[in-house]
Amino acid sequence: MEWKKDPRFRGIEPFEDKVWLSSPTMHGEEQHWVDEAIRTNWVSTVGANINEVEKQIAEYVGCGYAVALSAGTAALHLATKLAGERLYGQARPNAGTLAGRRVFCSDMTFDASINPVAYEDGEAVFIDTERDTWNMSPEALEQAFQIYPDVRLVVIAHLYGTPGKMEELKAICDARGALIVEDAAESLGAKYRLGDRWVETGTLGDYNCISFNGNKIITGSAGGMFLTDRREDADKVRKWSTQSRENAPWYQHEEIGYNYRMSNVIAGVIRGQIPHLDEHIRQKKAIYERYKAGLADLPVSMNPWDAERSEPNFWLSCMIIRPEAMAPTVRGEREYLYRSESGKSSPSEILDAIAAFNAEGRPIWKPMHMQPIYRSNAFITAEGSGRARSNAYIAGDGADVGVDIFSRGLCLPSDNKMTPEQQDRIIEIIHRCFR
Ligand SMILES: Cc1ncc(COP(=O)(O)O)c(C=O)c1O
Repeated sequence: MEWKKDPRFRGIEPFEDKVWLSSPTMHGEEQHWVDEAIRTNWVSTVGANINEVEKQIAEYVGCGYAVALSAGTAALHLATKLAGERLYGQARPNAGTLAGRRVFCSDMTFDASINPVAYEDGEAVFIDTERDTWNMSPEALEQAFQIYPDVRLVVIAHLYGTPGKMEELKAICDARGALIVEDAAESLGAKYRLGDRWVETGTLGDYNCISFNGNKIITGSAGGMFLTDRREDADKVRKWSTQSRENAPWYQHEEIGYNYRMSNVIAGVIRGQIPHLDEHIRQKKAIYERYKAGLADLPVSMNPWDAERSEPNFWLSCMIIRPEAMAPTVRGEREYLYRSESGKSSPSEILDAIAAFNAEGRPIWKPMHMQPIYRSNAFITAEGSGRARSNAYIAGDGADVGVDIFSRGLCLPSDNKMTPEQQDRIIEIIHRCFR
């Protein structure tokens, strides 16, 4: 569509500089610590920056040990492997620790959360999403344990920086003797009330992971961490991440190794970012609040969170269109179509409009059970199996919360450097979409 010719958008100018979904925000201290690494020649996978960021993050999050790795994905892989080994023992070198095992996984998340289950030869069973925080549904998890009572591992992500219903999810896992891998990649700095104690995400599972990917709340340009209270787990992850060397005068290996350790240069960037974590969270919260107020008169709502039990880090602001205000739209595997209708809109139309004015939004994570690679994996909703729900002879087709949120929701530009004026222009563009 020729957006400039569309009379609905008359008078709106494109942004001169692109407004990003969530881009890195450097402050200056990063340069100091990177320079220090280079000046002192500590540019490899040992050094003061690594030691310091491990210490500072463990202190901030409130866990015993943090192990700095090359990516959140690496942390998730080693966390998943550690869980697999604890549950099922050491695997042969050519097999994963989860071979022949099912693992319950968040469904609406980035695939990096759950791909490590496949790296370890396990089979992900996807658990549907709830509507209160857009995370794993405790009801669906309970159903999953009814159907697959032998499962002992659950991978839970906190979407867009909003903590999930961890109290309920943990209670279900405890009752079944299942371990939790917590994916807090998007939620560093988000808080959750467990009983009467406020704790950080990244301390809520048996094995916990965060990410410093370029778009996260703070970044190292890349990087991730494994977080734990168990010394032996921290030691094991550090060993596995540096090629699993035994204590011998030569390279001696009794376990499969990985090259997953963080570089001291990247740790320097993170060291400069940590002092700004709380400031970034405040900026992201202000962005969320401004969208909430600015979009209040439209038939939409923001991504929800539980104010009594959690304080998100507001990494990404999202919105969802009410069902009655959805304009006709379809999504294929790679292409999409939509029609504009007065008083209505669709995520694809809004994302296209935002892009036409030089800003970046993003669809909601497409649920894993819809992904071609995982289409034959089981999917469990609050009503039981989410596969083959319809019946040619009976009306109705069962609830699928993830598909619904994916169909009606979108991520808004949430860059912490966005000015109120830029944000107001995005809010105005969204209003015009509904004209
Ligand atoms: C939910 C989630 N899990 C895992 C990851 C992977 O982290 P990384 O990019 O650091 O490997 C990301 C982000 O990239 C993420 O958003």
